[in-house]
Amino acid sequence: MKPPRASVRAAAGVGLRAPHVAQVRAERPRVAWFEVHSENYYVDGGPALAALDDIRRDYPISLHGVGMSLGATDPLDYVHLGKLARLITRTEPVLVSEHLCWSGVGGRHLNDLLPLPYTEEALAHVCARVAEVQDALGRELLVENVSSYLAFADATIPEWEFVAAVARRTGCKLLLDVNNIHVNAVNHGFDADVYLAAIPPAAVAEIHLAGFDASGACLIDTHGAPVAPEVWALYGRAIERIGPRPTLIEWDTDIPPFATLQREAATAQAILEARHAVAA
Ligand SMILES: [Fe+2]
Repeated sequence: MKPPRASVRAAAGVGLRAPHVAQVRAERPRVAWFEVHSENYYVDGGPALAALDDIRRDYPISLHGVGMSLGATDPLDYVHLGKLARLITRTEPVLVSEHLCWSGVGGRHLNDLLPLPYTEEALAHVCARVAEVQDALGRELLVENVSSYLAFADATIPEWEFVAAVARRTGCKLLLDVNNIHVNAVNHGFDADVYLAAIPPAAVAEIHLAGFDASGACLIDTHGAPVAPEVWALYGRAIERIGPRPTLIEWDTDIPPFATLQREAATAQAILEARHAVAA
């Protein structure tokens, strides 16, 4: 398996969203790296791709997919994979990631990242799919733990063991979303630190941070709020255990001014550097 052509240091980056693209191109703000949603660039030309070509000249780029439906039982979509492969060739991303979820069945696509039943059968299936994608792309894939609001009655494996097993069996890396761990810990009543303890540190290649909505009966992973204090605390413990990792601030709804994202990234950077100073 070929490593990425370039690496990204363990610094805080920001998810690049359409309302900020013009500002980023004009001002070239101090941001360690950007992550984009791969599917937004599955085009042969046009202004969005031109902007990405421009921005990638000055910043490391990570490609984050939301539509591969890794855990689904339909055959892998090789048209989708081909588009991702072309985008990888064009942008030379430092990281390529997808979600440990399913998003469709019987040829119908659901616009959501749905959790898998955490069973041995689903584990074997998704591991085969991750291996197939890594073989097709000829590079390492990062898979991300997703948030959920219901659990399958047939599940036999704790989520954290399932996620760790995917990395161990396939050699893929993990994109550990610390906010999703907190959301699920509250929604399903488990201990987030038990989850962290089960994750093999060497497998973690990136961390996500985002905000949730706590106004209803369960926590909803909206990506529309600042990172919560409990999630900052969990992130600190994650960095302590795993070591410094590239960390991304995700914000997808009610998108604030770019400066707000920079402030969130600066908080993550301070935690990374504090930990690095202790380690050194
Ligand atoms: Fe995430």
